[in-house]
Amino acid sequence: MEYGYFDDQNREYVITNPKTPVKWINYVGTLAFGGIVDHTGGALICRNDPALNRITKYIPQLPSSSFKGTTLYLRLKEAEGQYRIFSPYFVPTLDAYDRYECRVGLGYTRICHEFAGIRTEATIFMPMSAEQVVRDIRITNTTGDPVCLDVIPVVEYTHPDALKQFTNADWVPQTMQSKALRQPGDEVILIQYPFMNRDRQVNFFTSNWPVSSFETDRARFLGDNEYGTWAQPLALQQPELGDYEALRGDNIAALMHHLDEVHPGETARLITQLGQTGNIVEALPSIERYRDPAQVDAALDELAAFWDVYLGRLQVQTPSASMDRMVNVYNARQCHTTLNWSRYLSLYQLGLGARGIGFRDSSQDAMGIVSSMPGTSKAMIQKLLHVQRRDGSAYHQFNPLSMVASEGDAGEEGEIKYYSDDHLWAVLATCAYLKETGDLTFLDEVIPYYDQDGEDQTIESGTVLDHLWRGLEFTTSHLGQHGLPLAGFADWNDSTNLPPGAESLFTANLYGVALRELIELAWHLDNEALAARLEEDYRAMRDRVNECAWDGEWYVRYFDPRGEPLGSVRCEHGQIYTNGQSWPVLSGFAPPERALCALDAVREHLNTPNGIKLSTPGFNGFDPEKGGVTTYPPGTKENGGIFLHANPWVMIAETMVGRGGQAFEYYDQINPAAKNDVIDEFECEPYAYPQNILADEHPQFGLARNSWLSGTASWCYQAATKYILGIRPTYEGLCIDPCIPTGWDRFQVRRVFRDAVYEIEVLNPDGVSKGVRSVSLDGTPIEGNVAPVLVGTHQIRVVMG
Ligand code: NOJ
Repeated sequence: MEYGYFDDQNREYVITNPKTPVKWINYVGTLAFGGIVDHTGGALICRNDPALNRITKYIPQLPSSSFKGTTLYLRLKEAEGQYRIFSPYFVPTLDAYDRYECRVGLGYTRICHEFAGIRTEATIFMPMSAEQVVRDIRITNTTGDPVCLDVIPVVEYTHPDALKQFTNADWVPQTMQSKALRQPGDEVILIQYPFMNRDRQVNFFTSNWPVSSFETDRARFLGDNEYGTWAQPLALQQPELGDYEALRGDNIAALMHHLDEVHPGETARLITQLGQTGNIVEALPSIERYRDPAQVDAALDELAAFWDVYLGRLQVQTPSASMDRMVNVYNARQCHTTLNWSRYLSLYQLGLGARGIGFRDSSQDAMGIVSSMPGTSKAMIQKLLHVQRRDGSAYHQFNPLSMVASEGDAGEEGEIKYYSDDHLWAVLATCAYLKETGDLTFLDEVIPYYDQDGEDQTIESGTVLDHLWRGLEFTTSHLGQHGLPLAGFADWNDSTNLPPGAESLFTANLYGVALRELIELAWHLDNEALAARLEEDYRAMRDRVNECAWDGEWYVRYFDPRGEPLGSVRCEHGQIYTNGQSWPVLSGFAPPERALCALDAVREHLNTPNGIKLSTPGFNGFDPEKGGVTTYPPGTKENGGIFLHANPWVMIAETMVGRGGQAFEYYDQINPAAKNDVIDEFECEPYAYPQNILADEHPQFGLARNSWLSGTASWCYQAATKYILGIRPTYEGLCIDPCIPTGWDRFQVRRVFRDAVYEIEVLNPDGVSKGVRSVSLDGTPIEGNVAPVLVGTHQIRVVMG
């Protein structure tokens, strides 16, 4: 089946069949206000936190045909008292349509629909300078006769405490209330709130047309004690809605608008707004503003301008159209999504409070967005460092609204209350920010550690640089029997939970990468003594890794508390791990011959046409000594599944050993855009990386899940731009060090770096994979391959060879 296509010119993916294998979504707004819009108009909207301040009731586990959060009904009067009711969103009425198209755009979704001679075009988005989700709905009569048409947009609310909605079916409905505020032009603002919040914040739903009637109670809208359905709400069989202001119950907001006569060819434009405010009177000017179609047009233009600037900071033109599509639009946009939503709110991560913002996740997300929005990246790093403990370890996650941090699963399940890797990711993120911006003053900024005394007062603060040192110290003070970092509750692979005393090779290598970053920084700060000390630490860990972790053809992944390796040819399950091989290359710990051997082992044992598996063979049965990973069947997620996040690390490692063809092959084979042709197997959106794909041990090999919120976004973007195309910020300038397929004869990059625009053309006349023969800046040859920090626009010409 085909479900859609890429419209590259408009930077949209166009869904042409609403019956996609699973719901496909888009994101509107930001975590500050916004959420998910699915391709049949449903929406999960929240403000600041989906767990503590959720607005619409969207239950992803319900069947795709079900109403979810919002919809729109149109009603044609056929005879006195007889109506034809349908939804231009397809769901929930599911009528056959003459045309359906959902354009998934940058920060907006546009659903176009035709049925019974009525063409509807609904654009759903969040203006940049407001906190209201706007739906700009244009309705055109394409018949030859005038029509009488009613337009009824509907929202269903949830209790803001999203989990409570599902755990208490007495208290929640007893607290929910709605009121109508009729305005001079007969517009209506429906106000909705839980009793406890009535003086603090209310939700509102309104439109720009006169409203003849409204409903705020779901039972009354559906009718017949809720044996009426969303597909055929009984209230819509009546000329008017009940004008009922709910004082309890399942609250909705439904507005009845009559368009008494729409002439042939005429287009009517209804604009709805869903928002939240502390004071409805204060919100009136903003509400008034977005009732004006000209202001809505301007807001859409402003949104487009934001994305032009965001994407414009890095644009590429390579021999691979699908790489261009991802780098220039979809991957860059997904980095924005992950930075905002971390692993908190998607159709798979349900935002019910269990996760929040992840320390390691958001550190990596901060690296994905740093070239496009360095300031946003910095703000995230500041928050992350604030949830670091004084001992240098980090809390695994925190709630974005309350800033309350927790240990995540380690707190609930583990005897060990920390993850061994979290704190080290902050070093990588901070150094990426420093190299991108040159803003070394950030190192001196003072940020409190999370620990507080009995009076909720900060006990200690430290500069950013102190925070980074503390992180290193935590690692070096938690070593195991081989002198390798203890694994903690888990390392990056958070479902492998070995007993206390186990050691992690991943964390050893991540520590190596962090040290390398800090050595580079120490040299840049002219601190020779510090650099020398860090180099010594680096060599010590490197030697330990090479002494104990080489298994003959590859590196092992862990040692258990008895000193037995996991990720060894001697193991029955989990003989080889992808991260076990890529990370010793990224850290530089692997000597050249071992690096090649380890990467060859990945190709031989772990690669599949759908991507690289995380390990093989998968465990087959629960083993409490291995932890959560053994709860999954073989071939799924971390248990031998294709865990996409780990794929770009292999790509980067391949570029480090100079094999650009192999790196690109790994890049290309997981490009979601290429899945458009096998979508019934893949099932998820072809315009976003998923987290996982079932691997060849599983009968449904190729099936993707957990789309959107994955570190895959940040790392694929980095692999493509910094390593394959090789455009890497350094403290001194912009390094150009490509590692590409030998068949590529040229590529171009436009990169905004600090205060300059670099228009880079790379030529590859000899068909090499790596190596720069000459670089010229505005026509003048320069030494080396680092373009200096400049202002203005400059032409860089690079010849490989
Ligand atoms: C998803 C989590 O969000 C991420 O933090 C973790 O590294 C991977 N799963 C692997 O376990």
